Amino acid sequence: MKRFDKHIFICENKRESEHPRGCCHSKGGSKIKEKFKSKLKQLGLSDKVRANTSGCLDACEYGPVVLIYPRQTWYTIDSDDCIDKIIDNDILNDNVVEECTIKDKRFLKDKIE
Ligand code: FES
Repeated sequence: MKRFDKHIFICENKRESEHPRGCCHSKGGSKIKEKFKSKLKQLGLSDKVRANTSGCLDACEYGPVVLIYPRQTWYTIDSDDCIDKIIDNDILNDNVVEECTIKDKRFLKDKIE
């Protein structure tokens, strides 16, 4: 029996400002997590969908990064609009929000033949 239908992993990894890889914390990762948690609560989904803080997901150049399981969909969040669309489409209706996905074949393994 599964505990949650979906997990949303939101990178909040923090590095020093001069680090060459940057970090999702400095790109708003913590605020993004709070927005996901707030929306899940508003929709009464907190028992079915878990929004978790994540450490570095090794996609720093695309941060702030969000990864949703079980499908393993990788998103880069460049606006609140992406968060709303991910909730409405991916979380509620199981449809990938293509415009917010990371456009790099390393993160699109299911689409590579
Ligand atoms: S710091 Fe967020 S993916 Fe590396």
